[in-house]
Amino acid sequence: MAIAVCPGSFDPVTNGHLDIIQRAGRLFDKVIVLVIVNPDKTPVFTREERVDMIQRSIDLPNVEVDSYCGLLADYVKKVGAAVIVKGLRAVTDFEYEFQMALTNKKLAPFAETMFLTTSASNMYLSSSVVRQVGSFGGDISPFVPEQIKQQIAQRLKRA
Ligand code: PNS
Repeated sequence: MAIAVCPGSFDPVTNGHLDIIQRAGRLFDKVIVLVIVNPDKTPVFTREERVDMIQRSIDLPNVEVDSYCGLLADYVKKVGAAVIVKGLRAVTDFEYEFQMALTNKKLAPFAETMFLTTSASNMYLSSSVVRQVGSFGGDISPFVPEQIKQQIAQRLKRA
C-alpha cells in the first residue's frame, strides 16, 4: 500500500492546499495530511485548530489528518510512507523545496519527494495572504473552504 504524507504548517489551510491534497488522494492508497509543529514559529492557529480545520474541509475515505512535532523524516519512517507530496507554486518556491527534499532524502532515503504543480487558479495563494487579508477584515472567501471561512475570519480579526 502506497502511503503519502502531505506536510505543512497549514496556518491556516487554504484552497491551494486542498487542491494538492485532493489530487494526492487520487494518486495514493492513503494520504496523511501532517500539521508540522515548528517550535521556532508562533502560529496564529493552534495545532488542534489547524488539524480540526483540515478535517472539516476534507471528506475523502483515504485521507487522514495528523500532527507532529519533530523531523518530517522521522514521521515518514514511523508510518512507513513512501512519498512526501508538496505543492509547487512558482520558481520562488523551488530553492527552499529543493533543499528540503534533498535533506529529507538523506534522512529518509526510502522516501521520495514528489511535487505537484499548483493549479493555475491558486498560484498566488498562501496562508500568509489569507492571514494578511483576514487580519484587516478583508473577504477571505475566495481563498479558504466554505466550512471554515467564518472560524478563520473571526480568529484573524482578533489576532
Ligand atoms: O507549510 P510550510 O510552512 O511551507 O511547511 C514547511 C514544513 C513544515 C513542511 C517544513 O518546515 C518541515 O518539513 N518541517 C519539519 C522539520 C524538518 O523535517 N526539517 C528538515 C527538512 S529541511
